[in-house]
Amino acid sequence: MPTVRDIREQAGDEPITMLTAYDAPTAAIVDDAGVAIVLVGDSVGNVSLGHETTVPVTVDGMAHHVGAVSRAVDDALVVADMPFLSFGVDEKDSLENAGRMLKEEGAEAVKLESGPHTIELTEKMAQLGIPVMAHLGLTPQHVNQYGGYPRQGTDQEAAERILELALAHEEAGAFSLVLEHVPSNLAAEITEALEIPTIGIGAGPDCDGQVLVVNDAVGLSEWSPSFSKQFGNVREEMKSAIDDYVSAVESESFPAAEHSHEEHDLEDLY
Ligand code: KIV
Ligand code: NA
Repeated sequence: MPTVRDIREQAGDEPITMLTAYDAPTAAIVDDAGVAIVLVGDSVGNVSLGHETTVPVTVDGMAHHVGAVSRAVDDALVVADMPFLSFGVDEKDSLENAGRMLKEEGAEAVKLESGPHTIELTEKMAQLGIPVMAHLGLTPQHVNQYGGYPRQGTDQEAAERILELALAHEEAGAFSLVLEHVPSNLAAEITEALEIPTIGIGAGPDCDGQVLVVNDAVGLSEWSPSFSKQFGNVREEMKSAIDDYVSAVESESFPAAEHSHEEHDLEDLY
């Protein structure tokens, strides 16, 4: 049962596995597979709720999914992603929103898309007992600022800025750092510079761990980013099962006798 302390100490040892999950059955499968960290990502917005971005995701919405995942996970560390503007605007609100994921929904840590505005907040949360996973590089909640999802840290100044922010968040007490969509050599240098583990997505092979969106990993997504990999074909499996169901009902081969309740001795009802 990894704790935030186990994860922090795993930097440089065995690679850390992390996947997202948004519902109880998926979380149970991920947990049974021995994945160390289950992230209830705000990617739930695009992945499960039909939004185009993560911007519309709410604290109440996240709480709903975090509760479902926490109830299904026995071993993995459950991390709740804090949605757009639920942190970093007002300190009291930030702490209450994050605290709710631990107090009421069973998460053991939160993830904040990080920047200059989350250094003090990360320190305050750590002091209060809310473990923080930082997240630098591409931070999808900035989609409207970026105008898309461009790779980050591609010039010297931008790369140095990410490294500085990574060090500042480690100093502030973050227990790990997600690096998203940055050049592999930058991720490698940050991983070298930090004591806490880095967990990469589109950040090359040299991070201390890797994370993917579960729907992308199992091949359920209609589209997935080029840095992701499909390790299965769940979408095709589901489609084929559902096609078979439709055919069976239409051809009246389902339900058969074995799927039906036995007939009872009833008087004519009318
Ligand atoms: O929301 C999410 O799924 C994430 C991971 C991809 C890191 O933030
Ligand atoms: Na996220």
